[in-house]
Amino acid sequence: MKGQFPVDKFRDLRTPFYYYDTRILRQTLEVIRQETEKMENAVVHYAVKANANQEILRTIREYGLGADCVSGGEIKAALQAGFSPDKIVFAGVGKADWEINLALEHHIFCFNVESIPELEIINELAAVKGTVANVAFRVNPDVKAHTHANITTGLAENKFGIALGDIEQVIELAHRLDHVKFVGLHFHIGSQILDMGDFASLCNRVNELLTLFEKHHVEIENINVGGGLGVDYQHPNRQSIPDFHEYFRTFNSLIKRRNGQSLHFEPGRSVVAQCGSLISKVLYVKQGTNKQFAILDAGMTDLIRPALYQAYHKIENISSELPVETYDVVGPICESSDVFGKAVDLNKVSRGDLIALRSAGAYGEIMASQYNCRELPRSYTTEDLL
Ligand code: LLP
Repeated sequence: MKGQFPVDKFRDLRTPFYYYDTRILRQTLEVIRQETEKMENAVVHYAVKANANQEILRTIREYGLGADCVSGGEIKAALQAGFSPDKIVFAGVGKADWEINLALEHHIFCFNVESIPELEIINELAAVKGTVANVAFRVNPDVKAHTHANITTGLAENKFGIALGDIEQVIELAHRLDHVKFVGLHFHIGSQILDMGDFASLCNRVNELLTLFEKHHVEIENINVGGGLGVDYQHPNRQSIPDFHEYFRTFNSLIKRRNGQSLHFEPGRSVVAQCGSLISKVLYVKQGTNKQFAILDAGMTDLIRPALYQAYHKIENISSELPVETYDVVGPICESSDVFGKAVDLNKVSRGDLIALRSAGAYGEIMASQYNCRELPRSYTTEDLL
């Protein structure tokens, strides 16, 4: 055992694999439960896109969370894990007809609708089934989140949501259509947000809209503020549970909810990032001209975030206590972007050492690919290795 890892057990397993520490996941879910119980009428829909591993989904479902899905595949994964359809929301700019039909057949809680043509198709497909679909409109709030450009979503220039100026017209249209019922508003300003000021700006925007709709006698039953709470990638041990207290408090105290309005959240990363690590073995230590490379058997196919977003994941040699040396840590894929970290300090590395890439529980396993005809990484939980 080094730190929190059962290294001896790891030695028998074929690498690379994802290791999920279910104790951390459960502690995180317990905090979410406690914090949301303090609020009235709050529902958390876990964003399945962050990690759709069935064991992870089942654990999350046990704590009473709903699911936020962005595809028919995610709806199927959530149903398979036992999530109740009446706690499933379905978002996404490009919902295919079969996906809408699947959601209608299961009578999900709500569609988060992103455009007028989409609203019309949901209405049409619901009419064929003789049913009425609950819809919320995703409003593009034009609020800037201080995070990576590739993962901000709430600016006017992004493809997501309905422009602020068009929203009244869309609600009016929904009221005229017989097979959709307008129930709420949906927002999402981005991901990996650590500045509560960004969420406060969103709250201000929500309040402006609530006032506007009240003036026009438009009733809003629920307000969904999306996900986005960030995690501490630098210090996964020091802060293994994100600051849910501040996060929920910000929304609960700043949004001026009218009687009975429910408040919905869609956290993904903050729920699962810190419980997961990608465990890999060192294949070779190679001397370069001015540096040395630790070449792992895991690559960007297993964890694409560093290559795609220049994201930082803490890297640890979990099988060595030798003095620290500096390495570029790279994968075996034939792409020069297949680098996990440059000039990384690690306990001296030898062939066969086990390396942990930390905070990889969110957008890790689920974004894996088979490029270079590689196998997808396997996964194990704490319980699997007892
Ligand atoms: N709700 C909506 C509408 C979203 O678009 C997202 C994430 C979430 C909820 C969950 O956000 P979270 O709580 O996880 O920040 N692959 C990228 C992240 C993409 C996030 C996309 N939308 C990454 O690896 O950083």
